[in-house]
Amino acid sequence: MQKAREHWSSHLGFILVAAGSAIGLGTLWKFPYVTGENGGGLFVIIYIACTFLIGLPVFIAELIIGRAAQRGAVGSFAFLSHNQTFWKGVGWLGVLSSFLIMSFYSVLAGWGMNYVFMSLTQFWEGRTPAEISQAFTILSSSGDITLFWHLAFTALTVAVVLPGIRQGIEYWSRFMTSSLFVILLGLVCYSFTLEGFGKAFNFLFSPDASRLTAKGVLQALGLSFFTLSLGQGIMITYGSYMRKSDNIPRTGVIIAVTITVISMLVGLMIFPIIFTFGFQPEEGLGLVFKTLPVLFSKLPGALIISTTFFILFVFTALTSSIALVEVVSANFIDLLGWSRRKAVLVVGISCFIFGIPSALSNTDLVFANWKLVYGKTFFSTIDELVSTWFLPLCGLLTAIYVGWFFDRKQVEHEYRSGTNTIRFFRPWIFFVKWVAPIAVITIILNTAGVINLDGGQKEVEQEMEVETVSRS
Ligand code: PHE
Repeated sequence: MQKAREHWSSHLGFILVAAGSAIGLGTLWKFPYVTGENGGGLFVIIYIACTFLIGLPVFIAELIIGRAAQRGAVGSFAFLSHNQTFWKGVGWLGVLSSFLIMSFYSVLAGWGMNYVFMSLTQFWEGRTPAEISQAFTILSSSGDITLFWHLAFTALTVAVVLPGIRQGIEYWSRFMTSSLFVILLGLVCYSFTLEGFGKAFNFLFSPDASRLTAKGVLQALGLSFFTLSLGQGIMITYGSYMRKSDNIPRTGVIIAVTITVISMLVGLMIFPIIFTFGFQPEEGLGLVFKTLPVLFSKLPGALIISTTFFILFVFTALTSSIALVEVVSANFIDLLGWSRRKAVLVVGISCFIFGIPSALSNTDLVFANWKLVYGKTFFSTIDELVSTWFLPLCGLLTAIYVGWFFDRKQVEHEYRSGTNTIRFFRPWIFFVKWVAPIAVITIILNTAGVINLDGGQKEVEQEMEVETVSRS
């Protein structure tokens, strides 16, 4: 017999926890850096479209699977599909993605912890933007320090997850998410006064097709899945803790809107710094760490503001990493009958070990030739593998499962339970059944080069560029 599951103490509690898991380094770190690399404008529009047209329907689908099955990701797929290996495999793919994300997430959050200390010692004071940017390069290539923080953050996550799902998490999520929002608003107001604000606004919101590649579209899709915590079994697991009276569609809309608003605020905070102080939008994964402190160095009260910001950075990472570790462990508890303690410890230690090459990816200490062979560091390889490929794939299969294989009556029953707005059921199921799968498959095929949606336009442009260069 399944033990009765714990449930969230209130609907608002659930929304805040789901938001806490969703708002994390995806919005604070990944959104600005991938947007910068993909030329802004059009990428941002596609990211928002993916969030609402594909991500949101899949988000609702995941919650429905979890609440209907009352199990973790793998258990839910197994239970609903009557143990079909393929669908269980989809659940495991999600679990694998969570594990892989956690392995590099803690490296990033670890850098954030280091930045808390740099803020406390007022490291930025009187430094030039170039020096501030250089500080990140030095930190990220210092294997010992990065490894230390990677360990510290993983241990912190394990320490929070060990005592049980709700204790502390709900409480802290409320406080931290709202504080983050307030501080972001304050920083955006300051960025507004910078001379580069206009340029940044244009960069972020005026579409320019020539700056976006096919791969960029898939990255936008992957980013929307990453920020909504989709394709990893997280929302399936969280759905299993929801009560029948909780409103699933409304929760989905609230989270999608919150994520979009926060991403835009982060963009409006970071890009004016880039255009005012001579950084490049394509700065790469260190973008946030290199640029934000420049703002802090100019602010009155920098000590308090920058310390608070990086503490919140670490906390939002923590509310996400808790979800990541929780979900992986929940499957071992459900399926292998492990004790909670054993599962969390094994998962925590494994994430730490697998994360070591990511922590050392800017040094020569392990896999020294990785970049030469694969063209990017170990860290970025894992990040890209999961964010760009695994998440969209898993989201696609989830949509296909709910749209085509899950008993329609049961889906409808689950959707309706807790909501009065049943008129959205039909459009939603249409999106899950048709729009999401077709869109995801098209984007994947386009990136893989099997179809070409640019109609050869990009190649022509590139050829013209080559010609111009060779002529001049
Ligand atoms: N959504 C989180 C973020 O944006 C990442 C995450 C994914 C967290 C999956 C939990 C689960 O940072």
